[in-house]
Amino acid sequence: MLTAYDYQMAKILDATDIDIILVGDSLGMVFQGFESTRHVTLRDMMYHTSAVRRGTKRKMVVSDLPIGTYDTPGEAIKSSTMLVDSGADAVKLEGNFPEIIEAIVEHGIPVMGHVGLLPQSASKYRVVGMKPEEHSRIVSDSLSISQAGAFSIVVESVSEPLGKEITESVNVPTIGIGAGRYCDGQVLVINDLLTCDPSFKPKFVKRYANLGNLISEAVAAFSADVRANRFPDEEYSYGASS
Ligand code: KIV
Repeated sequence: MLTAYDYQMAKILDATDIDIILVGDSLGMVFQGFESTRHVTLRDMMYHTSAVRRGTKRKMVVSDLPIGTYDTPGEAIKSSTMLVDSGADAVKLEGNFPEIIEAIVEHGIPVMGHVGLLPQSASKYRVVGMKPEEHSRIVSDSLSISQAGAFSIVVESVSEPLGKEITESVNVPTIGIGAGRYCDGQVLVINDLLTCDPSFKPKFVKRYANLGNLISEAVAAFSADVRANRFPDEEYSYGASS
């Protein structure tokens, strides 16, 4: 699974062999420039979900329910329906809220769970579950979320042994991010995989390309061409006479 927030990226990902496109509320950081996901609204998610949907023909699109939009079963159903109406096939929500998950699933909308580090409520980004009681709670939360009807669970920022234990305990696929090698699938934020921000260097991100550098080089070449009157030349001009 990889994130996308816009039409063109969704179109590129749709033509690959990944399984799921996540319209993550990580867009609050990588798209909107906030310090957390907590500023993201349902309207933002609807806007980005519809853009991603227009670029996606084959993949499943999962959209994050933003903070404060799933506090009661009624509100969760209403928010999830709005994301589905915008083009989502399923919604994702953070934390162990079995009655909320059950209500959305009973309404016919598939739900992806999310355990471990929960960015909507975390005070800082860290590896969680290192203390025995926190470790046990995350395992029992995962069980409760799968029993409530979630079709898969994102496991974020936990030790590899905890990621393994969760994966072996639940009867749905786990999708890890900073959760080691034993989850059933893996997810990354596309901007991290492509190194759009070279200053962001968490341990769990493998950089598969350096788009930040490529963009800077391309812009420098464009700027140099324009300043030296090399662009546009005849080739890029309408009705130019040589
Ligand atoms: O918002 C997001 O992109 C996510 C992933 C990091 C799993 O929730």
